[in-house]
Amino acid sequence: MTPALQALFEAAKAAQARAYVPYSRFRVGAALRAADGTIHAGCNVENAAYPVGNCAEASAIAAMILAGQTRIVEAVVIGGGTELCTPCGGCRQRLREFAALDVMVHVADRDGIRRSFTVDELLPASFGPDNLAG
Ligand code: THU
Repeated sequence: MTPALQALFEAAKAAQARAYVPYSRFRVGAALRAADGTIHAGCNVENAAYPVGNCAEASAIAAMILAGQTRIVEAVVIGGGTELCTPCGGCRQRLREFAALDVMVHVADRDGIRRSFTVDELLPASFGPDNLAG
């Protein structure tokens, strides 16, 4: 792992530890590296009204936007369980809004990166901001 990716992984892992998951008990952390090199992390935040809960990716994107950054250049998502914690459908679209199609999304567990995808692999033939232009 490059030092830059290691830092992103550690940020995702730290965020995962903060997850608010009294209902699913499924902790997810996400970390995004923005175009200026800064890292923005988030965790899932559940709610007694289940559909109102936020995914970790959405929390990380909100933190990035608040910090004044709008472009994702690399991402790590870390989840529990034995299966790969790939981003849900809604979060693939959320990531797509702020990332080029070749941006890498690394899916991790506590031991490290398990598999890496491009945004285009996660959401092929996607609809994005360019579709609204012109
Ligand atoms: N979850 C995420 O935070 N990100 C994903 O991409 C997949 C699912 C969360 C939502 C919910 O709090 C828990 O994982 C179980 O679905």
